[in-house]
Formats: sequence, C-alpha cells, structure tokens
Amino acid sequence: MLDIQKIRADFPILSEKVNGKPLIYFDNGATSQKPQVVIDAEAKYYQEINANIHRGVHTLSQLATDAYEISRVKLQHHINAKFSHEVLFTSGTTHGINLVANGFASILKPGDEILVSSLEHHSNIVPWQMLCEKTGAVLKVIPINEEGELIISEYESLLSEKTKIVTVNHISNALGVINPVKEMIAKAHAVGAAVLIDGAQAVPHLKPDVQDLDCDFYAFSGHKMCGPTGTGILYGKEEWLNKLPPYQGGGEMIKEVTFEKTTYADLPHKFEAGTPNIAGGIVLGTAVDYLNEVGFGNIQLQEKKLLEHATKRLLEIEGLRIYGNAKNKASVVSFNIDGIHPYDIGSIVDKLGIAVRTGHHCAQPIMNFFCIPGTIRASFSFYNTKEEIDAMVEAVKKAKIMLS
Ligand code: ALA
Repeated sequence: MLDIQKIRADFPILSEKVNGKPLIYFDNGATSQKPQVVIDAEAKYYQEINANIHRGVHTLSQLATDAYEISRVKLQHHINAKFSHEVLFTSGTTHGINLVANGFASILKPGDEILVSSLEHHSNIVPWQMLCEKTGAVLKVIPINEEGELIISEYESLLSEKTKIVTVNHISNALGVINPVKEMIAKAHAVGAAVLIDGAQAVPHLKPDVQDLDCDFYAFSGHKMCGPTGTGILYGKEEWLNKLPPYQGGGEMIKEVTFEKTTYADLPHKFEAGTPNIAGGIVLGTAVDYLNEVGFGNIQLQEKKLLEHATKRLLEIEGLRIYGNAKNKASVVSFNIDGIHPYDIGSIVDKLGIAVRTGHHCAQPIMNFFCIPGTIRASFSFYNTKEEIDAMVEAVKKAKIMLS
C-alpha cells in the first residue's frame, strides 16, 4: 500500500495554489508532475558535470558521457530491451515515430499498406500520411466500437501481405483504453508486417517488456513518466535499426566524412545526430528509478481505485456521458455533459484550482466517431486522491448549474 501523503510530499507543485485554490492536478495525460529528486538531479547535472558527451577526453566530458550511457542502460533494463544500442534517446514520442516513418520511405512501394488505429493521437497519424504521400503507400484504419475498443476481427481482415507496418498506441490518450497490443503484434508478424507501439500514455502506468511484446519499435516520452520535457526513447529491434537509414545527418552519427562519401556510426549513434538533451537523458534515468521505487504494482492499484471512484462519482451527475468504457482502461475519464461545451466546464473548474484537459486531445478522428467537438478529460496519477476526485465532482456539478 502506498502512503499517498508521503508520495505527495515528493512533488513540490502539489502544495501550490492555482487561482487562490489548492492545486488539483488531473492533466497527467498531458504531462506528469516531477518529484523533487528529478528537479534536483537536473540542477546537479548543470552544477557538477555539465559538458558535451562522446566528444572530449577531458574529465567532465567523460563524467557526462558515463552518466548519459548509464541512463541508457537503465532504460534498456526498464523496458527489457536485449541490447542498450536498441535504445535511442529522442526528444519524445513524436520524434521517435517520425524517425521510423522517415526510415520506411526507403522500404515502401506504391500500393503497400500502413495500418493505424482509430484511437491514434495525431502524432501517430500525420507522419504516416506524410509517408503515404511520399511513397504511394496506402493508409488503412482499424475501426473501434461504441466502447472505444479496437475491433480485432476487422483488424484481422485488414491485415494482408500488403501490410508493411502496423502502428498503434498501447493506451489511448483520449479515452484511456488499453489495446491488446501483444495479440495484435503476433497477428501482424504472421503476415510479415513490422509493428510500432506508441507507448506515450502507457509508460506512466506500466513497465513495457519489449521482448515479451515482440514489438519492432516502441516509442515513448519522458515527461509523462515524471521525467523532463524534451526527452524520450525509441526502442527498435537491432535488425530494424540496422536496416533503416539515418533520420538526421550531422555530428556524432558518422564514422568518416569526406566530400565523396560519408559512412555512418554504429547503433545507437547512427540515429543520434547533434548534441542531445544531455541533462534530460540523464534525469530520465532518475525518473525511472523513482517510479520503480514507488513500484508499478502500487501505481496500478492506486490508479485502479481512482478510476473506479471517479467513474462512479461522475456518473451520479445527470446528463453526464463517459466516452471509452472498455474493459481494459487506464486511469483516464473522458466525459461530457449534455448541451454544455467541454471548454466551458474546463474554464470554470480551472477557477477552482482544478486542472483538466478539454478539447479533442489531438485525436480528432475519435471525436468525429462520437460526433462531438471534444471532451473533458481527467487523467489521474498515483499521487492523486479520492478527495481530489470528490472536489472535482462538486466543481463539475457547480459548473453544470451555472451553465444550464
Ligand atoms: N498527448 C498529450 C495529451 O494527451 C499532450 O494530452
């Protein structure tokens, strides 16, 4: 059992006031808050070992390089990758997905198919549309049912020898639905397609095991898992990363450069051109240590309680509809109240110190499916409490009265 008050004390922002009211932070799907150890680790890096990495023989450069590479290994173990060179540092999930989509430009032929799901964030739709424009490949979409679950029988009928890559999120950012990715990966592999999993919304809630999933790529961001913004990881199977061409050219990703020909560095450096977010990469390792200390079992238990409580309490409000009632759901509740624009509710609860996200959540196709402009999304983290949920429910009731 987690001592929630002790956990909350790790996050200084949770004692802040917003609009004169104690902050209730339910926008964890957009970004998580940061514990003091993460904030301190960032300052410590700049105070004690700031230097560029992989470049200098001087002591600071070696210290910074070691810290960065130790963090890579930490991330490797966290996701159970076979090799540390399969773990690429990126600026976030969007960067990781674009890197893979760009690489597939050299593989796809006109008429090849890319399968995305109806539940994707724009960052896992647009790069593939751009790739289709470039290559003549065709984008196919896996549909969902009214509960917001992917229809697996439809997925099976979309798969064929034309499918070259399937790209799907592990957990939907807009609805919180957890997709059966392991099963989907096996089905894609059976027709010879590669699979990319967008793990942005999964990594705050679970520890992905990339070897068990057998995914070819797994992309995620650091800032949603208590780490700094501008950090992320792209995991890729060694054989795929060797097959794909570099994404960006520049320093650090080369073996030898002449004006006649350049040869590229080995993995992972082939995909890491330029000076990276060194402090961020190191501190992402600190964030992962912190989450593992809290324990993903504890995180899941606490978040399950929060989800159940929020679902039950919100449904007490007449005219309130929750979108995404899948059996497997992360701690996200996306809802609307009949006849009221989500933005109006969001603005009123904000005045009461409650942060929720309103709008289409960068997932317009889902909103189109439900024929709505957007939703109010409350996304919970292990440091949230039932009392905070009760306060949100009261605030939503108040907003409803004001707006009716
Ligand atoms: N993708 C983030 C969200 O869902 C920003 O809010």
